[in-house]
Amino acid sequence: MVRTPDDPQVLLLTSEMFPFSKTGGLADVMGALPVALHRAGVRVAVCTPFYGRLSAGGHEVRLVQERCPVGFPWAPITAEIYRTEYHGVPVYFIGRSEYFDRRYYYNTYSGDYFDNCERFTFFVRASLQWARQMKTAPAVIHAHDWQSALAPAFLHYLRSSDPFWKDTKSVFTIHNLAFQGRFSNRLFEGSGLPTEAWNQEGVEFFGDFNLLKGGIAYADAVTTVSPSYSREILSPKFGCGMEGILSKRRDVLHGILNGADYDVWGPHDDRYLPCSYASDDSSGKIECKKALIRELWLADQLEDRPLLSFIGRLRKQKGIDLLIEILPQLMNKGLGVVVLGEGNLEYEQRLMELVEEYPGTLAVVIGYSEDLAHRIHAASDIFLMPSRYEPCGLTQMYALRFGTPPVATAVGGLIDTIVSYPSPYATGFTFAKPEAKLFLSAINQALRLWNNKASWRSMVRRAMKQAFTWERSAEQYVKLYKSIGMTIESD
Ligand code: ADP
Ligand code: GLC
Repeated sequence: MVRTPDDPQVLLLTSEMFPFSKTGGLADVMGALPVALHRAGVRVAVCTPFYGRLSAGGHEVRLVQERCPVGFPWAPITAEIYRTEYHGVPVYFIGRSEYFDRRYYYNTYSGDYFDNCERFTFFVRASLQWARQMKTAPAVIHAHDWQSALAPAFLHYLRSSDPFWKDTKSVFTIHNLAFQGRFSNRLFEGSGLPTEAWNQEGVEFFGDFNLLKGGIAYADAVTTVSPSYSREILSPKFGCGMEGILSKRRDVLHGILNGADYDVWGPHDDRYLPCSYASDDSSGKIECKKALIRELWLADQLEDRPLLSFIGRLRKQKGIDLLIEILPQLMNKGLGVVVLGEGNLEYEQRLMELVEEYPGTLAVVIGYSEDLAHRIHAASDIFLMPSRYEPCGLTQMYALRFGTPPVATAVGGLIDTIVSYPSPYATGFTFAKPEAKLFLSAINQALRLWNNKASWRSMVRRAMKQAFTWERSAEQYVKLYKSIGMTIESD
């Protein structure tokens, strides 16, 4: 059976999309941005891999094309295309079991999958070939992160060889510059890109094939997920080696802050919570705290003590080592700490050792649990985010909405989303550098304010009123799409 694709103006390419697949914030963004664009009047569709461990999330997923040709260098190899609709947005899943039917998306505990370059080049090529069957080409291809980054590069060359693509523009969004998809130069040959792409202004990076660089070098517009990060990445400290090419492309580089999907993340109506609550009534939050204390076998006395939480990947980026370093000092203060995360084995082991030392006051859940993340946000008093860098960060936005003021490093998106104490408008606490001493003193500041119930309540109320809506972010993307040539039919 062959059905022609819908006819989107903007086609988004992503390796993760909530609720179908998720390892982190990219998935949340891609579960919300397309819907917000659709609501803003843009015809959008999404291409994403058809992973073996895909969660259909109650949506009907149908095979719409059995053998979508992918072309050189995959001449005899084809992709399966599946389709579903998510809040009015067509979603195409690109399938090929030998590439995507695996336990994990990108890596196992022992490292990255050896064929990641081939897997995601295939994904990009298949997405473009599927789009090639549309009546008219999309006005914009919007690719996200290294896994989709070759789309602007392919498009650049397709524009001159295939009239179908001649007016299509590309946008490339960087969610995390540290993940680049950097591979041996031998893999370039098999990618299907023409030889002229192999140069310093193209995909070559210190002799290696760098997919992320392809997105940065060839896209008509490059964006990243917060204004502060868009400035930081021009410096060697945050640029991960890309500061040179980014500075060259500075004129087309934009920082558009992510939104938070408050339909999914909000205490007023959250299906994972034992009860809901609003900013003018804290009783529900107290109930959530009591329930989590029971759920995690923590001591009842913690009901009247501050409960601090950390949710995230256990990686250096997130500063989990800083939290580990100060944990013994923190635990002496008669408070509770909850950690939910997975990642680096060494951090996981150290945290489990610490649990033995602080039974009843430290809870560590190693693993990934969407619903527990909601309950922790709702139950805790203070959210910890000592990131070394943070392109945007979504968990601090969720924490704000749940009335859990964050203590966070003043970097990237954390600067753009948290108003730091002692401002009269403060919604949380930031500290200047990712250092254990500064982190601890910011937590102490938060604990002092927590003891002053009236001041704490007003900070919580302000935090809960913050609204980083996707409507606002989508508006900026639409403006950007228009600036590179897209017209909206309703205009
Ligand atoms: P990043 O994308 O850098 O990991 P973000 O703050 O943008 O950071 O997004 C992280 C997302 O992943 C949030 O939705 C957060 O709740 C979720 N998350 C991270 N680790 C876990 C975990 N162990 N269990 C459940 N959700 C997690
Ligand atoms: C990345 C970043 C994070 C950002 C997310 C979504 O994973 O690390 O800061 O919020 O992408 O854009």
